[in-house]
Amino acid sequence: MLRDALIYLSQSRTARRLVRSAPGARTMARRFVAGETLDDGIKACREINRLGMSVTLDYLGESVSNREEAIKAADVYIGLIDRLVLEGINGNVSMKLTQMGQNIDETFLRANVKRVLDKARQHDMLVRFDMEDSAHTQPTLDFFRGLWAEGYRNMGVVMQAYMRRSQGDIEQLNADKVRVRLCKGAYVEPPAVAYQDKSEVDDNFVRLAQLLMEHGNYPGIATHDPAMIQAARRFAKERQIDVARFEFQMLYGVRRDLQQMLVKEGYNMRVYVPFGEAWYPYLMRRMAERPANMFFIVKAVVRESPLRHILPS
Ligand code: FDA
Repeated sequence: MLRDALIYLSQSRTARRLVRSAPGARTMARRFVAGETLDDGIKACREINRLGMSVTLDYLGESVSNREEAIKAADVYIGLIDRLVLEGINGNVSMKLTQMGQNIDETFLRANVKRVLDKARQHDMLVRFDMEDSAHTQPTLDFFRGLWAEGYRNMGVVMQAYMRRSQGDIEQLNADKVRVRLCKGAYVEPPAVAYQDKSEVDDNFVRLAQLLMEHGNYPGIATHDPAMIQAARRFAKERQIDVARFEFQMLYGVRRDLQQMLVKEGYNMRVYVPFGEAWYPYLMRRMAERPANMFFIVKAVVRESPLRHILPS
């Protein structure tokens, strides 16, 4: 219930305006977002690399409806790819297609994304298309297939374990050796397309992770759930799947303890590092995943509020 409400609010312009202007909200966002500038993002990447983990850098933005904004977002990606290379950072990039113009026009989207892919290809770098809500699943896969047919190989996609269709999609993606990130899924979806019970989503996650680890191309097992991680480790041991054949992925600021534990055990670990001014919907989805995170918002707001001296701490 609360999860659905928070995801609903993530799309509300009024709530965005209120939260963005609330004192302390930026401070709170910093727990999950590296900062608003590219320099902030790069600084976080350096630190994560220093801790033995790779990164995927995400310039925040989604549901863009005007071309100038989408072109600017692609320009930012082109600049950040150069910067990652210049700084010698071990990492790649993730992007949302609705930030690149998916809701505007297919030809425009293709041209915009190709500019980024071409730049990344010069450096042998992967560009991962995040997966958004179910209205975009088929368009995203069709778009991906189109570029694949044109010969682009430096791209990867994301599959969501809550989606009923994901097993069929993964079988096809595995056949082509496409790089897949598997996550549980962060949007509110109807029962017709997505499993609703946590236990069903978890069971599917384990099944899909196994399919990817056994038959896929260097999959990213993206979760903070210790049970999912344990299932993947156990499966790798049972089937003697080398740790170099897959990686775990987690979000910036989430379960840093678990990230470091996996590194110490010798697993590849990649951290998803978001930066940019459009942090509001991203932050709300993180709240929805773990409503206890709202405690941090309230704390940050109170700390920076003019009323802080009279409020209980
Ligand atoms: P689950 O939500 O069941 O949580 C398990 C445990 O993990 C919790 O009990 C808590 O301890 C911890 N945890 C989880 N989320 C937390 C948070 N926000 N703060 C603190 N602790 C938390 N989704 C999507 O739809 N499209 C996408 O492209 C991506 N991309 C993506 C990349 C990467 C690298 C990750 C890790 C995740 C995504 N996601 C995503 C988000 C994903 O779908 C999912 O919503 C979150 O990862 C939360 O699910 P968990 O697997 O962590 O388990």
